[in-house]
Amino acid sequence: MKRAYFNTMKLALPAISENERMARSLVCAMVSTLNPTVAELGDIRCALSEAVTNAIVHGYGSPQSVDGCLVYIAVTLYADRTLKITVRDHGCGIPDVAAAREPLFTTDDTGDRSGMGFSVMEAFCDRVEVSSRVGARTKVTLYKALS
Ligand SMILES: Nc1ncnc2c1ncn2[C@@H]1O[C@H](COP(=O)(O)OP(=O)(O)OP(=O)(O)O)[C@@H](O)[C@H]1O
Ligand SMILES: [Mg+2]
Repeated sequence: MKRAYFNTMKLALPAISENERMARSLVCAMVSTLNPTVAELGDIRCALSEAVTNAIVHGYGSPQSVDGCLVYIAVTLYADRTLKITVRDHGCGIPDVAAAREPLFTTDDTGDRSGMGFSVMEAFCDRVEVSSRVGARTKVTLYKALS
């Protein structure tokens, strides 16, 4: 049986770094309607930020042109105060999701990244699901129950 939800939102944002902050603001504005604690809102901001940054930086490889490079974010607030956030890109995909989720795993060779994004998402959410197809897409789903 499908769970009852009481609000939902879908966003499609061009994959530019400014939109990481935009995504956080919009999603937090919506989640705020559930009166989360400051800590809960902080957790959601951090986890979302990691997922959106990954879509832009890894999925699309920080594109100079954003034509066709969109990050899709869907938020569902359920009546039992749980929330589900999906972050999806149509980028390069992840060849080995299990390896990518390991702490300190990164394919970055610039030294800018630490390989901790998925670990942060897991620390700040109740559940994180990742599905990906190489050359096609990546979808990260974050679940969190609010107090
Ligand atoms: N949306 C995505 N598309 C393609 N590859 C991805 C995506 N998200 C993550 N990855 C791959 O998974 C690896 C691990 O991601 P993770 O967020 O844990 O670390 P990172 O982004 O490399 O470093 P950090 O998040 O600490 O800056 C990335 O280095 C990248 O290879
Ligand atoms: Mg990352």
